[in-house]
Amino acid sequence: MVRTCEQAVAIGLPAVAFTEHLEFTEGATGDAIVDVATDQRWWSRIKPLDVTGYLASIGRCRERFPELRIWSGVEAGEAHLFGASAGAIVRGNAFDRVLGSLHAVPYQGRLVSADALFGRMPDDDAMRYYFAEVIALIEGSDLFEVLAHVDFPRRYWPGGPHRYTEAPFEEEYRAVFRALAATGRVLEINTKSPLASVDMMRWWREEGGRAVSFGSDAHLPNRVGDRFKLAVDIVEQAGFRNGEDPCDFWRV
Ligand SMILES: [Fe+2]
Repeated sequence: MVRTCEQAVAIGLPAVAFTEHLEFTEGATGDAIVDVATDQRWWSRIKPLDVTGYLASIGRCRERFPELRIWSGVEAGEAHLFGASAGAIVRGNAFDRVLGSLHAVPYQGRLVSADALFGRMPDDDAMRYYFAEVIALIEGSDLFEVLAHVDFPRRYWPGGPHRYTEAPFEEEYRAVFRALAATGRVLEINTKSPLASVDMMRWWREEGGRAVSFGSDAHLPNRVGDRFKLAVDIVEQAGFRNGEDPCDFWRV
């Protein structure tokens, strides 16, 4: 985290948000996941978030980098399926930024990594299966403010992520965007994924989207703010603008 802050200062970012993964290895009482999947640990590396240790690290970074605005946050994965578990942590802490995301989907009684859908069904169907679950996430959870990496499986598109095209899924994107806009929330442009097109960001605007967030999804210090200049060009072309506060969302 210290190296991430150093990098943010070095490249001139006014702020950095740490959105630590909030995932669970099994459902608890009140989590919808217990009714839809018996196997709930979709990835062996999931570890519970050490909230106390995490916030202490945030505090140390803030002391060390007073010139940088440092936001605490979480990326709540599958928040609609772990609503009780995630809700207890999100509502019990004043995080500055809460993302919602979907890395795994219920499939045949198990929670499976989204990329594992490829090979089990035609590739287009796998994307559509994912988008349908994103709508379930949006409609099933109010814990998050920003939807992260809306089309996450594009990173794993068979034949290479550079071959993925958004156009065949325009209706699915638009349906997701309508659902998100109806709740007044924010779409992230994720620069770890292959970049969104101007067309896609226009679909967001046309379906009622009013705000965009920039996320490098860095995980590593040297990727903080990666490709933000390109992302800014895309978002501007789609009609979104920065406000007076450089840390605010970009808005219509
Ligand atoms: Fe993620």
